[in-house]
Amino acid sequence: MSIDWPYPAIVAHRGGGKLAPENTLAAIDAGARYGHHMIEFDAKLALDGEIFLLHDDTLERTTNGWGIAGDLPWEQLKQVDAGAWFSPMFRHERLPLLAQVAERCARYGMAANIEIKPTTGTETQTGRAVALAAQVLWSAHPLPPLLSSFSPEALAAAQEAAPQLPRGLLLEEWDDAWPALTSRLGCVSLHIDHQALTAARVAALKAAGLRILVYTVNRPERARELLAWGVDCICTDRIDVIGPDFAAGA
Ligand code: G3P
Ligand code: MG
Repeated sequence: MSIDWPYPAIVAHRGGGKLAPENTLAAIDAGARYGHHMIEFDAKLALDGEIFLLHDDTLERTTNGWGIAGDLPWEQLKQVDAGAWFSPMFRHERLPLLAQVAERCARYGMAANIEIKPTTGTETQTGRAVALAAQVLWSAHPLPPLLSSFSPEALAAAQEAAPQLPRGLLLEEWDDAWPALTSRLGCVSLHIDHQALTAARVAALKAAGLRILVYTVNRPERARELLAWGVDCICTDRIDVIGPDFAAGA
């Protein structure tokens, strides 16, 4: 850890990886149970501007609701079951508000990577709203939330709304435009599918002064290799196998 990059090396994907329904308070509880110091989760906007956690644009895969989540007001979204799809043990688990997640992170002393996940067509609005809310909700936390997004528009809006919050550009694939994009958006980090990386690419990113977060790494041997190349953060679903102290023994 360093002052300019104070984040831990292991990040629990979607709160609790594959051990609890993704992007719920139960997921964060699972991350905490395994001792994790940082979680990643996906934040989007409800029709009335409330910010809540959900990965997909639509409700079907991870809830008992249907349709485009961002087309619904919070009053309706708060009623869907976000846990039963995963296991009957998690029946009645709700979609969480960003405010509840901030409170849970504070309780557990966990750092946060807030992935801004706009419903298609709401990139600027979502980037702005999430950054403004995060700035307030995390104001008393020891570490600022690391904002990230696949959407350059969302990151530009976050930069304008809360310039002091650190930003990371998310890429699914290698893109030679990364130097221009990260520089224009004032990003401190590049977040990328680990399969797109090579040792040479890691070296190029590091030489440019960027930190690197990789997703979603579930095999310990691969996590070890990436850390040896100089990757800063491993985002994992296997929060039980790639534990909080994994990097120390890697
Ligand atoms: O932020 C890392 C990772 O979560 C990006 O992919 O689809 O799991 O949100 P996804
Ligand atoms: Mg994500």
